[in-house]
Amino acid sequence: MRHLYLTGNMGSGKTTVGRLAAQRLGAPFYDLDQRIEQATGRTIAELFAQYGEEAFRQLERKALAETLFLWDGIVATGGGVVLDELNRKAMRLLGWVIYLRASPETLWQRLQHATDRPLLRTESPYETLQAIVQAREPLYQEADWVIDTDALSPEEVAEEIVRIVAPTPDDPLITLVMPDKPNGCLVAIAPGIIEIAAEAILHHIQPTRIAILTHTNLRRYAEPLHSAFTQRGVPAHLMTLPSGEQMKSLRVAERLYAQLLEAGCDRGSLLVIVGGGVLGDLGGFVAATYMRGILYVQVPTTLLAQVDSSVGGKVGVDLPQGKNLVGTFHQPVMTLIDPETLDTLPLRHWRNGFAEMLKYGAALQIGLWRRLQMIVEAKLISPRRVHREAALWTLPIARCIALKAQIASEDERDLSGRRAVLNFGHTVGHAIEAALGYRDWLHGEAIAAGMVAEAEIGRILGITLPEVADELRETIAQAGLPTQLPAGVDPDTLLTHMRHDKKRAGDSLSIVLLEAIGNARLVPNIPTEAIREALARCATS
Ligand SMILES: NC(=O)c1ccc[n+]([C@@H]2O[C@H](COP(=O)([O-])OP(=O)(O)OC[C@H]3O[C@@H](n4cnc5c(N)ncnc54)[C@H](O)[C@@H]3O)[C@@H](O)[C@H]2O)c1
Repeated sequence: MRHLYLTGNMGSGKTTVGRLAAQRLGAPFYDLDQRIEQATGRTIAELFAQYGEEAFRQLERKALAETLFLWDGIVATGGGVVLDELNRKAMRLLGWVIYLRASPETLWQRLQHATDRPLLRTESPYETLQAIVQAREPLYQEADWVIDTDALSPEEVAEEIVRIVAPTPDDPLITLVMPDKPNGCLVAIAPGIIEIAAEAILHHIQPTRIAILTHTNLRRYAEPLHSAFTQRGVPAHLMTLPSGEQMKSLRVAERLYAQLLEAGCDRGSLLVIVGGGVLGDLGGFVAATYMRGILYVQVPTTLLAQVDSSVGGKVGVDLPQGKNLVGTFHQPVMTLIDPETLDTLPLRHWRNGFAEMLKYGAALQIGLWRRLQMIVEAKLISPRRVHREAALWTLPIARCIALKAQIASEDERDLSGRRAVLNFGHTVGHAIEAALGYRDWLHGEAIAAGMVAEAEIGRILGITLPEVADELRETIAQAGLPTQLPAGVDPDTLLTHMRHDKKRAGDSLSIVLLEAIGNARLVPNIPTEAIREALARCATS
């Protein structure tokens, strides 16, 4: 593992929890404040009193930089370490950053009698604490993961940290989608989890029969699963299809219904889908409709499916008139994500999924965005690097899933507008796909150019700052994704397709626009002229 930096306000438990997590991981533990005290021979309170906060921050910067030379371990940082942008960048470069979040009330309970907190030596320390918590929250949010610690014991937080940085098939990182509803879904992520998938599935579900749906080229993942079910005494049937978006059709769905009937599948049967978004959408639709609905499990094998389509329950097929025109919401009972299955994924499909990851970061979470920028800057999405660093992807994938799970839990059926935020880049992106007849460009490629175009719309309307739109375009370009519209596709053709898109409200177009990185909202009644102008700016030069 690389370093694991624990950030959070004073009193959030970084030292206590850090020690416990280090013990569990068998890794060294470092306390930044203690290292400063040892190096200077003075307590933090004395350093503040004698030299002031700025001098202390310089010592802190140096101590943090020196962790570069330490054996990989867990580093508990001081509460103010995030105030310096360079510190935040250094932590991301040297390892993972986990923010231990606690409410001002919890922190106050722990700190009200403390005498060693110089920042709280004010006339109204509780109000001071509240103000510090509020001001620093956006900076802490730049972490790779946030743990809400209010209701957890230090041992529970330590266990969560271990699961976050070193999930195993037996102790995977788990996210719940709609935890309070009967159709809630469990998403488990760990490298190697596909090897115990049969056991994990049968632990939760006792189906009469199992049908496995996969692609011909993915039999290496599906066949061991088939054998494992059979060995455990559950009759299993393997169904394979060729690859391609054209599989997402009513005609293919009908063929699958026939195969399920022939295999003797009844209402107590389970469908397990091993594949990318095409099989996930098609198989989920078949599961939703076969005998009025059977249970299904997703084992996504493309980056796009792992970060997006396998979670949230949107399933469907295409019609000759357009994509996803027939479908429903049907949550899988379980989604098992194994980043090691991406080992065989072609580079273009890594980029395809990466575009959706960039969307989550840009629209919802600045910490994820910064991590993805680092992946791009380090040229990790390149032919030689991408397959060698599987462990590096687990946490960013998990972060995307957690964001999608949270939004799908809040707005399962896309009714309140909350889920619409996930469509950043998609209004223009879908129009690009339609204009190209769903050929030539992959979904993620269209979304990448769509995000750039929608940031331009935001810029024209004064909603997206020019530097935000520029940063977005630059990162997308560096990731090897398109930033311009496809050659030969003109703005008016795209506008026509956008008007046909099912997400429009009435005659005016609503589009998700960026207010800042990590903060997007659905803006209604976008003037056509602004869209046309933005699309013209993004036309291929
Ligand atoms: N339901 C949703 O919420 C949602 C969200 C986004 C996209 N989608 C849908 O997802 C579909 C696109 O999904 P996709 O990009 O995963 O494409 P895909 O399912 O067609 O897979 C892409 C290609 O990768 C191959 N493949 C899959 N896993 C592999 C592996 N591990 N190693 C080697 N090759 C592998 C497949 O055989 C295929 O050729 C579109 O139809 C889109 O509409 C749905």
